[in-house]
Amino acid sequence: MSEKIKRVRKAVLPVAGLGTRFLPATKAQPKEMLPVVDKPLIQYAVEECIASGIEHVIFVTGRRKYAIEDHFDLAPELEQFLEERGKPGLARMVREISGGLHFSYTRQSEALGLGHAVLTARELVGDEPFAVLLGDVIMDGPAPTTRALCDIYEATGVGAIAVEEVERARVHLYGVIDASPAEKSKWGVRLLKVRDLVEKPAADKAPSNLGVTGRYVLPPEIFDYLENTKPGAGGEIQLTDGLQALARERGLWAYIDPSKTHDAGDKLGFLKATVELALKNPDFGDDFRTYLRGMKF
Ligand code: G1P
Repeated sequence: MSEKIKRVRKAVLPVAGLGTRFLPATKAQPKEMLPVVDKPLIQYAVEECIASGIEHVIFVTGRRKYAIEDHFDLAPELEQFLEERGKPGLARMVREISGGLHFSYTRQSEALGLGHAVLTARELVGDEPFAVLLGDVIMDGPAPTTRALCDIYEATGVGAIAVEEVERARVHLYGVIDASPAEKSKWGVRLLKVRDLVEKPAADKAPSNLGVTGRYVLPPEIFDYLENTKPGAGGEIQLTDGLQALARERGLWAYIDPSKTHDAGDKLGFLKATVELALKNPDFGDDFRTYLRGMKF
């Protein structure tokens, strides 16, 4: 390992979006706080950070997002209340939500795009590699996706992003990669070398059917590229466009992640994620399955 390579300790979670795809539910509450089964959507990404050995989570927030700060803060009155009422298990659950992580918050004052949101975290990240997790996507697999990307970065000093095969009819919803197989490595055929990336291409213009799933581990140099990135798809400063420059000049890995991704970023995806995760719930998954089987359609 060269001297420059460092352990990945920080993660950036962009949560400034207005949640327009979820109106009216998001008129007065952040999309990230909508519950999927029994916890807020954003808690899944924070749990992935904890499981991946991340120590410091940086939220890029916006107006009306205080509930996120409260959720990951200590709640001594609530804990004491639960202890006094003889509910130590619930008190522990409340205490463990923050998982011993350090949290920082910075504001993206204007909705200028995902690339701009990540750039907003530059000062808090500093000169070290970091993960980015998009909270809309819940990764459900044998091992945390972010950990796998950290392992790739820490072994090679080159950034890594998670991708999955998506239906051609849906590629216009993703960043899509053009890539070739990596040379022999412990990740085998799952590791690819990215040649190029396109944000939300039309199906006939997409370079492949491998879509970026919303998990990234990046070197700090990405900030220089983002600073020079002009507005792209949708008139926004796209992270994908910054990654394109990074891939060309410094290299970038794509990792075909074995996890199942639940994209809860719109109403239908959110419902599907809710049903699939509810079916896996150890407390009531079996009852829920019986209920669904008995439904008349
Ligand atoms: C964002 C990224 C896109 C990525 C997607 C994954 O798009 O810009 O490259 O494939 O997340 O969910 P969004 O879904 O925020 O429009």
